[in-house]
Amino acid sequence: MKIVRSIRRMQILCREIASKGRKIGLVPTMGFLHEGHLSLIGRAGRLSDFVITSIFVNPTQFSADEDLAGYPRDEKKDIRDIETAGGHIVFIPKTSAIYPEDYQTFVTVEKITESLEGAFRPTHFRGVTTIVTKLFNITRPDVAVFGMKDYQQAMVIKKMIRDLDYPVRLVIAPTVREKDGLAMSSRNSYFTPAQRKEAVCLYRALETARTMVIKDGVGNVAVLQRKMKNVIKSICPTAEIDYIAFTEFETLRPVQKVSRKHVCSLAVRVHGVRLIDNMKML
Ligand code: PAJ
Repeated sequence: MKIVRSIRRMQILCREIASKGRKIGLVPTMGFLHEGHLSLIGRAGRLSDFVITSIFVNPTQFSADEDLAGYPRDEKKDIRDIETAGGHIVFIPKTSAIYPEDYQTFVTVEKITESLEGAFRPTHFRGVTTIVTKLFNITRPDVAVFGMKDYQQAMVIKKMIRDLDYPVRLVIAPTVREKDGLAMSSRNSYFTPAQRKEAVCLYRALETARTMVIKDGVGNVAVLQRKMKNVIKSICPTAEIDYIAFTEFETLRPVQKVSRKHVCSLAVRVHGVRLIDNMKML
């Protein structure tokens, strides 16, 4: 497996791979990898000949009060795990190379970045779409794999690919969960064991909503939200809920009456750690 740190070298390598008619799969990450990330690498490996995993903690998607400096990192372990998962190249660019002094160009997707996460993190998606554009331009992938865990992010990338005519196939892989249902996340490492147990409240609330929708035919958003809040508070009394939303899958438009076509997503602060999760009401 190759480790590439230079942008120029990465570009040359990708042109060589493509010129041999081999398909490139890209898995963008911010490192501190878990089984969720590794499942994306496995998926990319089945859909392409050369899997590039990028590790870059992207400063432009963090706001001033977020956890950029404290974001967990373990490059050595990540590299070992990527190799085991079947990755071919790890791309680890320097921040100063991606965003040189006086950097001025950003990519923005408009409407669908304004709700849910975008409402609470106004500059977040601008950072995500900018770094993903740069990674697409550097590697020119045939396939890019993203996780459903970051549902809005995946839909924003889908829109960007369509709007900017990127010749990339977007694959959205299912969320990998811990045994108790908690969605795997690099941020779970912030919890003490007692706090970690309470973090299951998001999953339990989603499961409750799903059962109400598919088994009891409940479609009223307010009723579902109230029940979910109760479930969250009963597991984690100090939880702070940013939002609980029911939306159409691709457009992220809020729905009035929930059915099996729709997605529930939520963001909750559990002992100071902001967690997100989502579930199709299928
Ligand atoms: P990061 O949080 O490291 O996630 C990298 C990819 O892994 C994303 O596509 C995310 O949705 C996926 N992922 C995370 N947890 C997952 C889980 N439990 N199951 C399945 N997939 C999971 O998302 C980012 O980084 C950044 O915003 C990035 C796209 C790299 C741009 O900087």
